[in-house]
Amino acid sequence: MNTTLKTSIEKLISHKLLTKEDFVALLNHNCIELRNELAYHANLQRKQHYGRKVYIRGLIEFTNYCKNDCFYCGIRCSNQNAIRYRLSKEEILTCCEKGYALGFRTFVLQGGEDAYFDDFRMTEIIRSIRKQFPDCAITLSLGERTTESFKALLDAGANRYLLREETACEEHYQKLHPSHMSYQQRMQCLFTLKELGYQTGCGFMVGSPFQTPEMIANDLLFIQDFQPDMVGIGPFIHHDHTPFGNEPDGSIDDTLLLLSIVRLIKPDILLPATTALSTLAANGREQGILAGANVIMPNLSPDNVKPQYALYQGKAYSGMEAAEQIALLKKQMTEIGYEIVTDIGNPSHISSLS
Ligand code: 5AD
Repeated sequence: MNTTLKTSIEKLISHKLLTKEDFVALLNHNCIELRNELAYHANLQRKQHYGRKVYIRGLIEFTNYCKNDCFYCGIRCSNQNAIRYRLSKEEILTCCEKGYALGFRTFVLQGGEDAYFDDFRMTEIIRSIRKQFPDCAITLSLGERTTESFKALLDAGANRYLLREETACEEHYQKLHPSHMSYQQRMQCLFTLKELGYQTGCGFMVGSPFQTPEMIANDLLFIQDFQPDMVGIGPFIHHDHTPFGNEPDGSIDDTLLLLSIVRLIKPDILLPATTALSTLAANGREQGILAGANVIMPNLSPDNVKPQYALYQGKAYSGMEAAEQIALLKKQMTEIGYEIVTDIGNPSHISSLS
Protein backbone atom coordinates (compact mmCIF):
# COMPACT_ATOMS: atom_id res chain seq x y z
CA MET A 1 0.00 0.00 0.00
CA ASN A 2 1.55 3.36 -0.98
CA THR A 3 1.84 6.23 1.49
CA THR A 4 -0.71 8.54 -0.16
CA LEU A 5 -3.30 5.79 0.08
CA LYS A 6 -2.45 5.04 3.70
CA THR A 7 -2.67 8.73 4.63
CA SER A 8 -6.00 9.05 2.84
CA ILE A 9 -7.47 6.10 4.73
CA GLU A 10 -6.23 7.45 8.04
CA LYS A 11 -7.63 10.90 7.36
CA LEU A 12 -10.96 9.46 6.31
CA ILE A 13 -11.46 7.31 9.39
CA SER A 14 -10.31 10.02 11.78
CA HIS A 15 -12.60 12.79 10.43
CA LYS A 16 -9.89 14.92 8.87
CA LEU A 17 -10.57 16.87 5.70
CA LEU A 18 -9.40 15.07 2.58
CA THR A 19 -7.93 16.73 -0.49
CA LYS A 20 -8.81 15.94 -4.08
CA GLU A 21 -5.59 13.88 -4.33
CA ASP A 22 -6.61 11.86 -1.25
CA PHE A 23 -9.96 10.98 -2.81
CA VAL A 24 -8.39 10.15 -6.17
CA ALA A 25 -5.90 7.84 -4.42
CA LEU A 26 -8.76 5.92 -2.78
CA LEU A 27 -10.72 5.67 -6.03
CA ASN A 28 -7.70 4.51 -7.99
CA HIS A 29 -6.98 1.71 -5.53
CA ASN A 30 -10.41 0.16 -5.36
CA CYS A 31 -9.91 -3.50 -4.42
CA ILE A 32 -11.61 -5.95 -2.09
CA GLU A 33 -9.18 -5.22 0.76
CA LEU A 34 -9.79 -1.47 0.60
CA ARG A 35 -13.56 -1.94 0.33
CA ASN A 36 -13.57 -4.26 3.34
CA GLU A 37 -11.46 -1.94 5.42
CA LEU A 38 -13.56 1.14 4.66
CA ALA A 39 -16.82 -0.78 5.08
CA TYR A 40 -15.62 -1.94 8.50
CA HIS A 41 -14.99 1.61 9.67
CA ALA A 42 -18.13 2.94 7.96
CA ASN A 43 -20.19 0.43 9.92
CA LEU A 44 -18.53 1.29 13.21
CA GLN A 45 -19.22 4.98 12.74
CA ARG A 46 -22.75 4.49 11.46
CA LYS A 47 -23.49 2.32 14.51
CA GLN A 48 -22.61 5.21 16.83
CA HIS A 49 -25.36 7.31 15.27
CA TYR A 50 -28.00 4.85 14.17
CA GLY A 51 -27.20 1.51 15.79
CA ARG A 52 -28.41 -1.32 13.59
CA LYS A 53 -31.42 0.60 12.32
CA VAL A 54 -32.32 0.77 8.67
CA TYR A 55 -34.87 3.42 7.72
CA ILE A 56 -37.41 2.92 4.98
CA ARG A 57 -38.88 5.59 2.70
CA GLY A 58 -41.92 4.99 0.56
CA LEU A 59 -41.19 6.19 -2.94
CA ILE A 60 -44.15 7.56 -4.88
CA GLU A 61 -43.25 8.27 -8.49
CA PHE A 62 -46.18 10.52 -9.29
CA THR A 63 -45.36 11.88 -12.74
CA ASN A 64 -43.01 10.83 -15.51
CA TYR A 65 -43.63 13.93 -17.61
CA CYS A 66 -40.42 15.92 -17.76
CA LYS A 67 -39.47 19.10 -19.58
CA ASN A 68 -35.80 18.25 -19.38
CA ASP A 69 -33.79 16.26 -21.86
CA CYS A 70 -30.93 14.83 -19.79
CA PHE A 71 -28.88 12.55 -22.03
CA TYR A 72 -28.88 9.66 -19.54
CA CYS A 73 -32.50 9.57 -18.44
CA GLY A 74 -35.29 7.39 -19.82
CA ILE A 75 -38.03 9.92 -19.05
CA ARG A 76 -36.28 12.75 -20.95
CA CYS A 77 -38.80 14.76 -22.94
CA SER A 78 -37.59 13.59 -26.33
CA ASN A 79 -38.07 9.90 -25.55
CA GLN A 80 -41.17 9.30 -27.68
CA ASN A 81 -41.35 5.70 -26.48
CA ALA A 82 -42.10 6.66 -22.90
CA ILE A 83 -45.74 6.18 -21.93
CA ARG A 84 -46.49 9.24 -19.81
CA TYR A 85 -48.68 9.30 -16.69
CA ARG A 86 -49.60 11.49 -13.75
CA LEU A 87 -51.10 10.43 -10.46
CA SER A 88 -53.98 12.43 -8.98
CA LYS A 89 -53.87 13.79 -5.44
CA GLU A 90 -56.27 11.01 -4.43
CA GLU A 91 -54.04 8.36 -5.95
CA ILE A 92 -51.03 9.80 -4.14
CA LEU A 93 -52.92 9.77 -0.84
CA THR A 94 -53.91 6.16 -1.44
CA CYS A 95 -50.21 5.30 -1.86
CA CYS A 96 -49.49 7.04 1.46
CA GLU A 97 -52.30 5.14 3.21
CA LYS A 98 -50.96 1.86 1.92
CA GLY A 99 -47.46 2.87 2.99
CA TYR A 100 -48.48 4.04 6.43
CA ALA A 101 -50.15 0.69 7.14
CA LEU A 102 -46.94 -1.06 6.08
CA GLY A 103 -44.89 1.01 8.55
CA PHE A 104 -43.58 3.82 6.35
CA ARG A 105 -43.17 7.16 8.11
CA THR A 106 -41.53 9.02 5.22
CA PHE A 107 -43.07 9.54 1.82
CA VAL A 108 -40.89 10.58 -1.07
CA LEU A 109 -42.73 12.34 -3.86
CA GLN A 110 -40.57 11.99 -6.92
CA GLY A 111 -41.33 13.14 -10.44
CA GLY A 112 -39.97 14.62 -13.60
CA GLU A 113 -39.98 18.40 -13.98
CA ASP A 114 -43.65 18.61 -14.86
CA ALA A 115 -45.22 22.08 -15.11
CA TYR A 116 -48.65 20.56 -14.43
CA PHE A 117 -47.56 20.20 -10.81
CA ASP A 118 -47.27 23.93 -10.21
CA ASP A 119 -47.12 25.40 -6.71
CA PHE A 120 -50.90 25.44 -6.40
CA ARG A 121 -51.25 21.72 -7.11
CA MET A 122 -48.10 20.73 -5.20
CA THR A 123 -49.00 22.67 -2.05
CA GLU A 124 -52.49 21.13 -2.15
CA ILE A 125 -50.96 17.65 -2.26
CA ILE A 126 -48.41 18.39 0.45
CA ARG A 127 -50.97 19.98 2.76
CA SER A 128 -53.26 16.97 2.39
CA ILE A 129 -50.48 14.52 3.22
CA ARG A 130 -49.32 16.66 6.12
CA LYS A 131 -52.87 16.81 7.51
CA GLN A 132 -53.56 13.10 7.18
CA PHE A 133 -50.10 11.94 8.29
CA PRO A 134 -48.83 14.46 10.84
CA ASP A 135 -46.23 12.02 12.16
CA CYS A 136 -44.57 11.47 8.79
CA ALA A 137 -41.84 13.26 6.89
CA ILE A 138 -42.52 14.45 3.37
CA THR A 139 -39.56 14.35 1.04
CA LEU A 140 -39.68 16.00 -2.36
CA SER A 141 -37.66 15.09 -5.43
CA LEU A 142 -39.04 17.35 -8.14
CA GLY A 143 -35.94 18.81 -9.72
CA GLU A 144 -35.17 22.51 -9.99
CA ARG A 145 -37.72 25.14 -8.98
CA THR A 146 -37.61 28.80 -8.01
CA THR A 147 -36.71 29.89 -4.49
CA GLU A 148 -40.31 31.06 -4.00
CA SER A 149 -41.56 27.66 -5.03
CA PHE A 150 -39.18 25.78 -2.71
CA LYS A 151 -40.36 28.09 0.07
CA ALA A 152 -44.06 27.57 -0.70
CA LEU A 153 -43.62 23.78 -0.64
CA LEU A 154 -41.73 23.96 2.63
CA ASP A 155 -44.43 26.16 4.17
CA ALA A 156 -47.06 23.66 2.99
CA GLY A 157 -45.40 20.99 5.11
CA ALA A 158 -42.53 19.38 3.19
CA ASN A 159 -39.44 18.55 5.24
CA ARG A 160 -36.80 17.19 2.92
CA TYR A 161 -35.64 17.69 -0.66
CA LEU A 162 -33.51 15.44 -2.83
CA LEU A 163 -31.72 17.06 -5.74
CA ARG A 164 -28.68 15.25 -7.04
CA GLU A 165 -26.04 17.51 -8.49
CA GLU A 166 -25.34 14.53 -10.84
CA THR A 167 -21.72 15.66 -11.11
CA ALA A 168 -19.82 18.39 -9.28
CA CYS A 169 -17.78 19.23 -12.36
CA GLU A 170 -19.21 21.88 -14.65
CA GLU A 171 -17.57 20.56 -17.79
CA HIS A 172 -18.89 17.08 -17.09
CA TYR A 173 -22.33 18.46 -16.28
CA GLN A 174 -22.49 19.97 -19.77
CA LYS A 175 -21.67 16.60 -21.32
CA LEU A 176 -24.58 14.96 -19.53
CA HIS A 177 -27.16 17.66 -20.20
CA PRO A 178 -28.36 19.86 -23.06
CA SER A 179 -26.60 23.22 -23.27
CA HIS A 180 -29.48 25.25 -21.82
CA MET A 181 -29.27 23.33 -18.54
CA SER A 182 -27.02 25.09 -16.10
CA TYR A 183 -24.62 23.63 -13.58
CA GLN A 184 -24.57 26.91 -11.66
CA GLN A 185 -28.34 26.88 -11.36
CA ARG A 186 -28.32 23.29 -10.14
CA MET A 187 -25.81 24.11 -7.44
CA GLN A 188 -27.65 27.30 -6.51
CA CYS A 189 -30.83 25.27 -5.97
CA LEU A 190 -28.98 23.03 -3.51
CA PHE A 191 -27.68 26.00 -1.53
CA THR A 192 -31.14 27.57 -1.52
CA LEU A 193 -32.79 24.39 -0.28
CA LYS A 194 -30.37 24.14 2.60
CA GLU A 195 -30.70 27.80 3.47
CA LEU A 196 -34.49 27.60 3.48
CA GLY A 197 -34.30 24.85 6.07
CA TYR A 198 -34.96 21.67 4.15
CA GLN A 199 -33.08 18.54 5.11
CA THR A 200 -31.22 18.48 1.84
CA GLY A 201 -29.90 15.61 -0.23
CA CYS A 202 -27.43 15.76 -3.09
CA GLY A 203 -25.81 12.94 -5.03
CA PHE A 204 -24.43 11.60 -8.26
CA MET A 205 -24.31 8.66 -10.61
CA VAL A 206 -21.32 6.36 -10.55
CA GLY A 207 -19.81 5.55 -13.92
CA SER A 208 -21.79 8.05 -15.96
CA PRO A 209 -20.32 8.65 -19.43
CA PHE A 210 -17.11 10.73 -19.46
CA GLN A 211 -16.71 10.47 -15.67
CA THR A 212 -13.14 10.22 -14.32
CA PRO A 213 -11.90 9.56 -10.75
CA GLU A 214 -11.02 13.27 -10.54
CA MET A 215 -14.63 14.15 -11.23
CA ILE A 216 -15.89 11.77 -8.55
CA ALA A 217 -13.35 13.36 -6.21
CA ASN A 218 -15.06 16.69 -6.95
CA ASP A 219 -18.37 15.23 -5.82
CA LEU A 220 -16.75 13.98 -2.62
CA LEU A 221 -15.17 17.39 -2.00
CA PHE A 222 -18.56 18.95 -2.56
CA ILE A 223 -20.17 16.59 -0.04
CA GLN A 224 -17.41 17.30 2.45
CA ASP A 225 -17.97 21.01 2.06
CA PHE A 226 -21.76 21.17 1.63
CA GLN A 227 -22.53 18.78 4.49
CA PRO A 228 -25.84 17.49 3.13
CA ASP A 229 -28.28 15.51 5.29
CA MET A 230 -28.71 12.84 2.62
CA VAL A 231 -26.72 11.57 -0.34
CA GLY A 232 -28.06 9.48 -3.22
CA ILE A 233 -25.45 7.43 -5.04
CA GLY A 234 -26.21 4.77 -7.62
CA PRO A 235 -24.52 3.33 -10.68
CA PHE A 236 -25.33 4.85 -14.06
CA ILE A 237 -27.40 2.36 -16.05
CA HIS A 238 -27.96 2.84 -19.78
CA HIS A 239 -31.41 3.32 -21.24
CA ASP A 240 -31.87 2.20 -24.84
CA HIS A 241 -33.94 5.20 -25.90
CA THR A 242 -31.43 7.85 -24.85
CA PRO A 243 -28.24 9.21 -26.44
CA PHE A 244 -26.29 7.11 -23.90
CA GLY A 245 -28.07 3.90 -24.87
CA ASN A 246 -24.81 2.16 -25.84
CA GLU A 247 -22.72 3.35 -22.93
CA PRO A 248 -21.49 0.81 -20.35
CA ASP A 249 -23.17 0.65 -16.95
CA GLY A 250 -21.44 1.91 -13.82
CA SER A 251 -19.54 -0.39 -11.51
CA ILE A 252 -21.07 -2.04 -8.45
CA ASP A 253 -17.71 -2.13 -6.67
CA ASP A 254 -17.12 1.58 -7.24
CA THR A 255 -20.60 2.32 -5.91
CA LEU A 256 -19.95 0.24 -2.78
CA LEU A 257 -16.61 1.89 -2.15
CA LEU A 258 -18.24 5.29 -2.52
CA LEU A 259 -21.01 4.42 -0.05
CA SER A 260 -18.34 3.64 2.56
CA ILE A 261 -16.38 6.80 1.76
CA VAL A 262 -19.48 9.01 2.02
CA ARG A 263 -20.45 7.39 5.34
CA LEU A 264 -16.98 8.18 6.65
CA ILE A 265 -17.03 11.76 5.34
CA LYS A 266 -20.26 12.34 7.25
CA PRO A 267 -20.99 9.57 9.76
CA ASP A 268 -24.58 10.70 10.46
CA ILE A 269 -25.53 10.92 6.78
CA LEU A 270 -28.78 9.31 5.63
CA LEU A 271 -27.56 7.15 2.82
CA PRO A 272 -29.79 4.93 0.70
CA ALA A 273 -28.85 1.64 -0.89
CA THR A 274 -30.43 2.74 -4.17
CA THR A 275 -32.72 0.97 -6.60
CA ALA A 276 -30.05 1.40 -9.29
CA LEU A 277 -27.62 -0.60 -7.16
CA SER A 278 -30.11 -3.41 -6.67
CA THR A 279 -30.99 -3.33 -10.36
CA LEU A 280 -27.38 -4.20 -11.22
CA ALA A 281 -26.57 -6.44 -8.24
CA ALA A 282 -28.88 -9.29 -7.19
CA ASN A 283 -28.29 -8.59 -3.50
CA GLY A 284 -27.66 -4.89 -3.99
CA ARG A 285 -29.69 -3.80 -0.97
CA GLU A 286 -27.70 -5.96 1.43
CA GLN A 287 -24.37 -5.09 -0.17
CA GLY A 288 -25.26 -1.40 0.07
CA ILE A 289 -26.22 -1.64 3.74
CA LEU A 290 -23.07 -3.61 4.54
CA ALA A 291 -21.00 -0.91 2.83
CA GLY A 292 -22.49 1.83 5.02
CA ALA A 293 -25.95 2.72 3.71
CA ASN A 294 -28.78 2.99 6.24
CA VAL A 295 -31.83 3.80 4.13
CA ILE A 296 -33.92 1.76 1.70
CA MET A 297 -36.55 3.29 -0.55
CA PRO A 298 -39.10 0.70 -1.65
CA ASN A 299 -41.56 1.66 -4.34
CA LEU A 300 -45.10 2.58 -3.24
CA SER A 301 -46.33 3.66 -6.67
CA PRO A 302 -49.41 1.89 -8.09
CA ASP A 303 -48.44 -1.29 -9.95
CA ASN A 304 -49.82 -0.12 -13.28
CA VAL A 305 -47.46 2.87 -13.49
CA LYS A 306 -44.31 1.31 -12.02
CA PRO A 307 -42.93 0.11 -15.37
CA GLN A 308 -43.46 3.57 -16.87
CA TYR A 309 -41.08 5.30 -14.48
CA ALA A 310 -38.16 3.83 -16.35
CA LEU A 311 -35.17 6.08 -15.76
CA TYR A 312 -32.89 3.30 -17.01
CA GLN A 313 -33.02 -0.16 -18.54
CA GLY A 314 -34.38 -2.96 -16.37
CA LYS A 315 -35.16 -0.71 -13.39
CA ALA A 316 -36.20 -3.02 -10.59
CA TYR A 317 -39.71 -2.41 -9.34
CA SER A 318 -41.11 -5.78 -8.31
CA GLY A 319 -39.97 -8.29 -5.72
CA MET A 320 -37.86 -6.66 -3.04
CA GLU A 321 -38.30 -3.22 -4.57
CA ALA A 322 -42.05 -3.27 -4.01
CA ALA A 323 -43.23 -1.83 -0.73
CA GLU A 324 -45.61 -4.77 -0.29
CA GLN A 325 -42.60 -7.03 0.12
CA ILE A 326 -41.57 -5.31 3.31
CA ALA A 327 -41.78 -8.55 5.31
CA LEU A 328 -39.25 -10.12 2.99
CA LEU A 329 -37.02 -7.07 3.20
CA LYS A 330 -37.19 -7.17 7.01
CA LYS A 331 -36.13 -10.80 6.95
CA GLN A 332 -33.21 -10.07 4.63
CA MET A 333 -32.01 -7.23 6.83
CA THR A 334 -32.31 -9.34 9.99
CA GLU A 335 -30.22 -12.02 8.33
CA ILE A 336 -27.36 -9.56 7.85
CA GLY A 337 -27.72 -8.14 11.37
CA TYR A 338 -29.80 -5.04 10.66
CA GLU A 339 -33.31 -4.01 11.59
CA ILE A 340 -35.94 -2.20 9.54
CA VAL A 341 -37.75 0.25 11.80
CA THR A 342 -41.03 2.13 11.73
CA ASP A 343 -39.54 5.54 12.29
CA ILE A 344 -39.46 8.94 10.67
CA GLY A 345 -35.71 8.42 10.32
CA ASN A 346 -34.41 11.95 10.81
CA PRO A 347 -30.68 12.70 10.91
CA SER A 348 -29.40 11.67 14.35
CA HIS A 349 -29.01 15.30 15.49
CA ILE A 350 -32.71 16.00 14.92
CA SER A 351 -34.96 14.18 17.36
CA SER A 352 -38.43 15.39 16.39
CA LEU A 353 -40.16 16.14 13.09
CA SER A 354 -38.72 19.30 11.62
N1 5AD B 1 -28.93 5.57 -14.55
C1 5AD B 1 -28.84 5.74 -13.21
N2 5AD B 1 -29.46 6.72 -12.55
C2 5AD B 1 -30.22 7.56 -13.28
N3 5AD B 1 -30.94 8.63 -12.91
C3 5AD B 1 -31.53 9.14 -14.00
N4 5AD B 1 -31.21 8.41 -15.08
C4 5AD B 1 -30.38 7.43 -14.66
C5 5AD B 1 -29.70 6.38 -15.31
N5 5AD B 1 -29.78 6.20 -16.62
C6 5AD B 1 -30.91 9.16 -11.54
C7 5AD B 1 -30.43 10.61 -11.56
C8 5AD B 1 -31.61 11.35 -10.94
C9 5AD B 1 -32.30 10.28 -10.16
C10 5AD B 1 -33.74 10.54 -9.85
O1 5AD B 1 -32.18 9.14 -10.97
O2 5AD B 1 -29.27 10.73 -10.74
O3 5AD B 1 -31.22 12.43 -10.13
